[in-house]
Amino acid sequence: MNPKTPSNSKTISTDLVLPNDTNHLGNLFGGELLSRMDRVACIAAERHADQTVVTVSVNHVHFSKAVPLGSVLTLEAKVSRSFSTSIEVFIDVWIEQSSVSDQRKKVNEAIYTFVAVDEQGKPIAVPPVVPETELEKTRFDAALRRHQLSLILAGKLLPDDATELKALFN
Ligand SMILES: CC(C)(COP(=O)(O)OP(=O)(O)OC[C@H]1O[C@@H](n2cnc3c(N)ncnc32)[C@H](O)[C@@H]1OP(=O)(O)O)[C@@H](O)C(=O)NCCC(=O)NCCS
Repeated sequence: MNPKTPSNSKTISTDLVLPNDTNHLGNLFGGELLSRMDRVACIAAERHADQTVVTVSVNHVHFSKAVPLGSVLTLEAKVSRSFSTSIEVFIDVWIEQSSVSDQRKKVNEAIYTFVAVDEQGKPIAVPPVVPETELEKTRFDAALRRHQLSLILAGKLLPDDATELKALFN
């Protein structure tokens, strides 16, 4: 299977934060953002796999700043690494206040994992990833540790077998 770069999967979504998307403080509701991130990351993973994918795990979400009503919200998703059948996707989130569109501020970062599946829902192989930029290489290298940690937490890997994680403490 031919390798792909993270740029091959790059997916960007820009949309407004409207009243129905907010909590009682007038900021974007966290669950709404999780849903938007799942959608954009799913498209990135499908661009990488050229197959249907399903979300298997949300590995990390950091709501670093509130997103006020009326913000212009941009989500950028890119595949950071793939394994045999699973695909890790990074999502970076920025806002612009619509009245001052040049002031872009990072508000969130998340990592989702997808699995490519066939018509019976059975996992199938996906192309490898070749990172290009320094950031892509950093994310690629750390992905194996995140993969092992996620599998330990899901009860699918014994801590003793998590070689990459164990190496951190040696
Ligand atoms: C995703 C799913 C197909 C995996 O099936 P499974 O029988 O658990 O398959 P496996 O245990 O062989 O795992 C398949 C891949 O998922 C990875 N995986 C499984 N659980 C994981 C977890 N908690 N975190 C990270 N990766 C995980 C495995 O490492 C494997 O990847 P690899 O082949 O690259 O190593 C199945 O769990 C499923 O259908 N889940 C529901 C998905 C869904 O409905 N999502 C929400 C709507 S889109």
